[in-house]
Amino acid sequence: MPPYRTLILLILATVVVGLAFTTPGRNDAAHTEAPAQELTPPSELALMMRAMAIHADSVKAAVNRGGNLPPYPKAFKKLPTAEPTKGMHIDPITFPTFAKDYENKLGRLYKVKKGERQQAYNALVQSCANCHGTHCPGPLMRIKKMYIATE
Ligand code: HEC
Repeated sequence: MPPYRTLILLILATVVVGLAFTTPGRNDAAHTEAPAQELTPPSELALMMRAMAIHADSVKAAVNRGGNLPPYPKAFKKLPTAEPTKGMHIDPITFPTFAKDYENKLGRLYKVKKGERQQAYNALVQSCANCHGTHCPGPLMRIKKMYIATE
């Protein structure tokens, strides 16, 4: 499946670039500051987001070919309490509201008839975009490309 192949290539590319930057003795001056930050592991929330994006991509592929949805992702129930990146501001009112909306749209996607999945999927992507409008706008460009075009 092409989306997975792209992901694997991305991971390989990241590893190769990562190795290039950690080659010992290459640039000693830069080494005194950079590595600590590069090695900070992604937050629980960031990892969940990556899984949510992969899940949405595979839903999109399934809807486009009229196939079965991937298994319901129960793990995303923890979205409201997942630990964010240190120092990231999470609004105590809007974040849980947007998280609940995402959960509702996810539930609906798995409930509707096959013919209504395209619309339900686009509503799910809209719920990603809504939260990202106020929290972490970086991935918005990517999210906007996730909609299934409707004619
Ligand atoms: C309730 C709010 C909310 C919803 C809903 C949401 N996001 Fe996020 N997203 C965030 C926040 C906050 C971060 C930053 C997480 C961190 O750095 O700890 C984030 C981070 C990300 C990242 C970057 C992860 C990384 O590698 O650092 C991607 C990609 C992403 N979201 C995509 C999505 C997609 C796709 C959806 C819908 C399927 C979605 N988000 C739904 C709030 C949300």
